[in-house]
Order: sequence, then structure tokens, then C-alpha cells
Amino acid sequence: MSPRSFQDEYGIIGESVEIKKIVEVVEQVAPTDITVLITGESGAGKEVIAKAIHGASNRSKKPLVTVNSGAIPEGIIESELFGHERGSFTGASEQRKGYFELADGGTIFLDEIGEMPLSAQVKFLRILENGEFLRVGSSVSRKVNVRVIAATNKDLESEVRHNRFRADLFFRLRSVNITIPPLRKRPEDIPIFFQRFVEEFSEKNNVPFAGISDEAMELLRSYHWPGNVRELRNVVESMLILEKGRYLDAADVRKYLKEYKPAPEDRHLPVHVGRSVEQAERELILRALLDIKGNLLDLRNLIIKQAELNAEQKERSDAVLVDSRKTPNLSLQEMEHRMIAEALQRFNGNRRVAARALNISERTLYRKIKEYGLE
Ligand SMILES: Nc1ncnc2c1ncn2[C@@H]1O[C@H](COP(=O)(O)OP(=O)(O)O)[C@@H](O)[C@H]1O
Ligand SMILES: [Mg+2]
Repeated sequence: MSPRSFQDEYGIIGESVEIKKIVEVVEQVAPTDITVLITGESGAGKEVIAKAIHGASNRSKKPLVTVNSGAIPEGIIESELFGHERGSFTGASEQRKGYFELADGGTIFLDEIGEMPLSAQVKFLRILENGEFLRVGSSVSRKVNVRVIAATNKDLESEVRHNRFRADLFFRLRSVNITIPPLRKRPEDIPIFFQRFVEEFSEKNNVPFAGISDEAMELLRSYHWPGNVRELRNVVESMLILEKGRYLDAADVRKYLKEYKPAPEDRHLPVHVGRSVEQAERELILRALLDIKGNLLDLRNLIIKQAELNAEQKERSDAVLVDSRKTPNLSLQEMEHRMIAEALQRFNGNRRVAARALNISERTLYRKIKEYGLE
């Protein structure tokens, strides 16, 4: 048995020089406690790298607490991060640990750090410098041992120039900066991603794959991938399922790439498609619905949990994952907006399929798309 490489072990896919260099840096910094700033466009793989750094560190048995700074309402972010004392503000009926305390001994991954309000940045800098912090409403300084990994898709230097990000924090954070280039800048990684994602989805859905033409692969390699690896993954999944594992030529692939795509209905004009495509579509829709349902259940559970927390004045003990898609207290409208955006993204802008998945008429979907400016 050949030994698995570091890269394989931590699930980092890619053969480009850029990825190889990143893997080297990850390997070097992982065992240390150095703060790492990961920058890159959305979907480029920032979270993959953060997980690898934690996984390869000697903190890997302790929690990795992921916090999406952009998803927490500004008014409660300090209490979420640093905790609060009982009675420190209306509704603070019990003391509560913040994410830094929950991550004690482990790693905190602060995603979308560019969204952190300035007031919280001051406190964050202090924790970075000496591990010390105050819970909201407390004058007793506490200490934690937490390794910090931060990520952003913003240009922090420009944020500093516009006084939206503290210069001292920026300098402190960027001591080790890993920049993940967008996928379009490393097209040599595209075939390997394609291959891995095909393997993953064909196994998961039990769809054998008949292959792809050189010309079709060239299309994938030359596409600009605004959503980066995340988008490629979605496209591979859609193609595999909607085309039922058929051999893919350039015309097939073109339909799934936004820029090249003809009008959404075109690919449903009668070619020699038949029941099999209908069948595959139904499966994809069903799985999407389950996904959406899953997200709603997450939301529901979060809301219930929040209510319980307030009611029972219970202290949280487990690490809590904060994700932008799971923010509680969304209005119905916001939820509808998100569901529609999600369905459109999942079906690569195909409104007919999205409408069916959402169980609304295409006309209604068009209206909502306009209403929410989702075009
Ligand atoms: N180098 C990579 N190796 C394996 N999977 C990757 C890589 N880059 C991105 N991905 C996959 O692409 C998707 C988006 O990656 P993610 O780390 O969440 O991006 P970001 O945090 O930059 O938005 C995930 O499904 C992730 O598993
Ligand atoms: Mg991310």
C-alpha cells in the first residue's frame, strides 16, 4: 500500500503549482499556533484549507469552531464571540460562553472576517495578542488558548483604506497569508476536480459515467467559473444526473455553463430525449427538495434551540456551527428569497426545473425573480 500523501489525507484536490505551494504552506504552519489569513473568491476552497490546517495540527482532537462573521447580526456579535454575563443586556437572562471559549484548546475559524464590525475587531485584536477577553458585561478578564484562522473574499487592504477594517488587526492577521487563486487562473486543476466529482456523484447516485469529449473538457477548462470550485461541483452533479451518465460532448456541456447557455427552455426541446431524462430530473428535484427541506429543518431547529436557550437559561456547551444559511429569525420573505435563489443556483438558472422543484408556476417564479432582483 502506498502511503497517502498529506494532500490526499486532508482532501485537498489539485495539481497546479499554486495548489502544491498552498499545500506546502499548510503543512508548515499546521503544527504551529500561528494565525493564518486565507483569502480567495467565494467557492475557491478557503474552508477546505482551514479544515486541513486544523486537522493537521495537534489541536485536531479539540473542536474546530466555525463562525461566519457576516451571518451574525451586528448587535449580538460581541456576545456571540466573547460571551456575556447575566443581565448584561435585555434578554441576557443567563451567562453564556462565547465561541472563543467554546473553541478553547482548539481552533476558531472566522469566516468572512471582513464583515466583522469595528467594535468587535478591537476585542478580537486583544484576544489575538494575549488570549485575553472580557465577556460582555464583565470586568473580569478571561483567557483562552485558541488558534485563529480567518478567511475573507474581500480585499482587506482596501477595507483598511476605507476605514472599515482596523489597520493594526490587518497587520496582525496577515503574518501568514494563504491566497487561493480563482479556478480560472489554474485551469489545469479542472480535469482532476471533474474526475473526482464524477466519481463522488456517480457512486452516490449509482449512475455510471460514459465519459467526456476532449472538446467538452476544453470548454470546462476555458470557462471563467465565477463560482469557482463550488460551481464546478454543482455543474458536474447536474450534468451527471440530468444527462444520466451519457457521454458528454461540447454541446451537452455548453448547456450547463451560464455564459454559453442558450435560453433555458432550449434543452428541453424534443431531441431524442425521453422518459429517462424526465426520470433523472425527478430524482434531482427530489433530492433538491430534500436539501431545501433539510435547510428548513436546520432553521427550525435553530429557532427552537434559541427559544429553549432563552426559556431554560441553559448554558451551551457544544461547539456550534454558524452558517449563513442557518441564520435564525428570518422573515418569511427572506426565507422565500433564499429558497428561490438556492433552487436557481442548484438548477443552473433553469427556471422550468426550479419552478417545479419549488412547486410554483413558472409565471410566479418569473415574478419573484424580478421582485427579488435575482436575474
Ligand atoms: N482544493 C480543493 N479540494 C477539494 N475540494 C475543494 C477544493 N476547493 C474547493 N473544494 C470544494 O468546493 C466547495 C467550496 O469550497 P469552500 O472551501 O467551501 O470554498 P470557500 O470557503 O472559499 O467559499 C466545497 O464543496 C469544497 O469541498
Ligand atoms: Mg466559505
